[in-house]
Amino acid sequence: MVAAFLRSCLWLLASSIAVLAAEADDGHKRIHLRTHSLTSPYLDSDMQSRWWDFGADTVIRADQYVRLTADRPSQAGWIFSRVPLTATNWEIEVEFSIKGAHNLYGDGMAMWLTKQRGMSGQVFGHTDKFEGLGIFFDTYKNNRPGVTFPYIMAMMGDGQTEYEKHTDGKSNELDGCSARGIRNAHVPTKALVTYFADKNLTVALQYKNEDEWTPCFSIANVKIPSVAYLGFSAETGELSDNHDIISVETRNMYQPAGGSTDSGRGGNRGGSRRGRNGRNEGGGWGWFFVKVLLFVMAVGGSYVGYTMYRANQRPRY
Ligand SMILES: *[C@@H]1O[C@H](CO)[C@@H](O)[C@H](O)[C@H]1NC(C)=O
Repeated sequence: MVAAFLRSCLWLLASSIAVLAAEADDGHKRIHLRTHSLTSPYLDSDMQSRWWDFGADTVIRADQYVRLTADRPSQAGWIFSRVPLTATNWEIEVEFSIKGAHNLYGDGMAMWLTKQRGMSGQVFGHTDKFEGLGIFFDTYKNNRPGVTFPYIMAMMGDGQTEYEKHTDGKSNELDGCSARGIRNAHVPTKALVTYFADKNLTVALQYKNEDEWTPCFSIANVKIPSVAYLGFSAETGELSDNHDIISVETRNMYQPAGGSTDSGRGGNRGGSRRGRNGRNEGGGWGWFFVKVLLFVMAVGGSYVGYTMYRANQRPRY
């Protein structure tokens, strides 16, 4: 009883602080989405994951990574969320690692927001003719003259169009960027993917230095299907690499009612994302005091409740 009471107090306090910290410097509130986040040890006690499904050659090492493919030929693996990502605007920060021992390597990995889930196939380990968004981290150049690899690109599948493998998806490409050094990097490699429904999709990468985000691309008028599963997959052929997912952090983003507008802060992406946990000068403190007040009331209420409970527990004669 006392333990449960203390736990709920702590929870209330923690959630007050979490809400305070969730507001970033660009006028959007961010809420952590447990359903689409993934961190070590990845699995529950029964060796399952409540929110993620994985298959094919994927191997999980609880203390280190979700390995989509090992550095061996002809591997393919995937991991997909069990529930669709229904948030309108979101931000996904994924830490991954592409590394291997060979001078020639491939083929790459992909991040997905598709209607299909857990279907092995020919596009970086996921099914072709997918419907939704694919972001490819392509490490092996088949035929794209003049383009430096690794190459990161986005494709919006309509459920019918095939990924054009022999040109590395050139005809399917919405936009992309080269990221030399993203493989076997010295710093943790990360991608930050931001989506505002029906407005834009932005990708920034960390691979040069820690806390340095390099803008990759930003595409306007992107429409991801409203029911889409978040997933990652990878594949090797004759050439191989370890393709690992280290962590996934997904946040729902929304504009607080009466909050500041985006204008004047629109350029805030890519290189200057630090201070996300900083508090917003306007609005943040008012909420905080409301939360503290609620917290104090909850503590008081619980204490009264507990006292009454104890009074009732006493033996009556
Ligand atoms: C994308 O759209 C959102 C919402 O309108 C806006 O705040 C943001 O600045 C836009 N991002 C880019 C890169 O245009």
